[in-house]
Amino acid sequence: MKKKMSNIARQVPCSVVLLSVASGKKRDAMTATCMFVSEDPAYFVVSVAKSSYTHQLIEEAAEFCLNIASAGQVKLAKALGSSHGAKVDKFAKFKIGVEKSLAIASPGIKGSYAFLECRVITSYPVGKYTLYLAEAVEFRVDEKAVPLAWLSNRYFSLENPAG
Ligand SMILES: Cc1cc2nc3c(=O)[nH]c(=O)nc-3n(C[C@H](O)[C@H](O)[C@H](O)COP(=O)(O)O)c2cc1C
Repeated sequence: MKKKMSNIARQVPCSVVLLSVASGKKRDAMTATCMFVSEDPAYFVVSVAKSSYTHQLIEEAAEFCLNIASAGQVKLAKALGSSHGAKVDKFAKFKIGVEKSLAIASPGIKGSYAFLECRVITSYPVGKYTLYLAEAVEFRVDEKAVPLAWLSNRYFSLENPAG
């Protein structure tokens, strides 16, 4: 079988985040992955396709909420990852419940495992993507919820500690 370079990225277990952003009355959410860069200060990085509507709104708002997806949000993660928010309000279409953020205007998404309210510090273009380095200025965690991971195009719930 011929090796496809794009497949290697899918062998890396990734966090699953529902990235929500609002700019004035406009809002959108997309499925993405994030990694932490530094614990203190709490810096995170996300890579966002320039073609996405989310990208347009992050450029305007310079903030976003990283909703760490829970095991109950697989359907929503699939929906937000396969639809484009420019012409449709995904919050209305997918009946997304919102949580008012404490420090930023972008709302959180109800049912998530954790909510990280982030402000963009800087960005860096990489081909078709922009890397955003952002600081989490507020956060909440729902200890009762179970977070998700993504590997080989499948979602896994992280409920059994292995070490
Ligand atoms: C599990 C998963 C992870 C994804 N990760 C990213 C990502 O890190 N960056 C990105 O630009 N798109 C990512 N996507 C694709 C976007 O969610 C997708 O392009 C979305 O339709 C963009 O929506 P928008 O145009 O409303 O912003 C991911 C999709 C899935 C299902």
